[in-house]
Amino acid sequence: MLGRVIGVGVGPGALDLLTLRAKSCIETSDVVVCPRASIYSQSLAQRIVQPLLDVCGKQARALTFPMTKDPVIVAKAVREAVTVIADLARQGRTVAFLSEGDPSTYSSFIYVRRALVRDFPQICVEIIPGVSSVMAVPAVAGLDLADGHERVAIVPSTYGIADLAQLVANFDTVVLMKVGREVGDIVAILAAQNLLEHAFFVSKATMPEQRVIDDLRNVGAHHGDCQSTIVIRKPGGAGRLLGEAAIRPRELEVIG
Ligand SMILES: C[S@@+](CC[C@H](N)C(=O)[O-])C[C@H]1O[C@@H](n2cnc3c(N)ncnc32)[C@H](O)[C@@H]1O
Repeated sequence: MLGRVIGVGVGPGALDLLTLRAKSCIETSDVVVCPRASIYSQSLAQRIVQPLLDVCGKQARALTFPMTKDPVIVAKAVREAVTVIADLARQGRTVAFLSEGDPSTYSSFIYVRRALVRDFPQICVEIIPGVSSVMAVPAVAGLDLADGHERVAIVPSTYGIADLAQLVANFDTVVLMKVGREVGDIVAILAAQNLLEHAFFVSKATMPEQRVIDDLRNVGAHHGDCQSTIVIRKPGGAGRLLGEAAIRPRELEVIG
């Protein structure tokens, strides 16, 4: 009998944000695999669940997915990973593929899943959703994401923020993920829109190194970490459905 491949969302960082289903899957699966950016770097997804892996006496097998926009390099990495995973599944094993946050949100598992479904239709592929940084970041910044009829945009900022002014005009909340060196440009655009005081920078939400910065001018162009997100919450949104006065995010308690 063929095995199964399960994309397991491990949440944004804190181990106790792992879902019960994800925990049970990691405990009972035959093989745990995890993505890493290079042979020199540790898998963040693995780091998040390492205490659980230690308790189970399991080791995660790392598969390398280089952080690049070059489709040829990405396709090669996916092919290699899928070969390993499909071989295990064809031996009847259940393979848990760890994904930081949620497996359906900017994750290597998206490519792996597509390739498995296309090339190995006999293998059963499932997803266990996880707490995404999209939810964790507003939570630690003391913000609500959307209320009533409000609209949210989720944008990978390293792929361009030229339309940021348009986005903030059209959406009540904008979540800028994959924040890299473009922080200075984001500051300039938001300042021109008078929205700077409604933007929060959060890095490593729910991890011990978590940082919440409520003035983007203090972030610095080279903030130097890969788990950074900016949330822009337009004023006047909170409580709009009930017709209440807007609550300014800074007046809410920020949970560390
Ligand atoms: C490759 S995407 C992975 C997203 C992940 N699958 C999720 O659902 O959160 C990486 C981006 O997610 C965001 N991110 C992931 N974990 C984060 C955290 N703990 N705190 C803040 N942002 C985070 C950052 O924008 C980072 O650049």
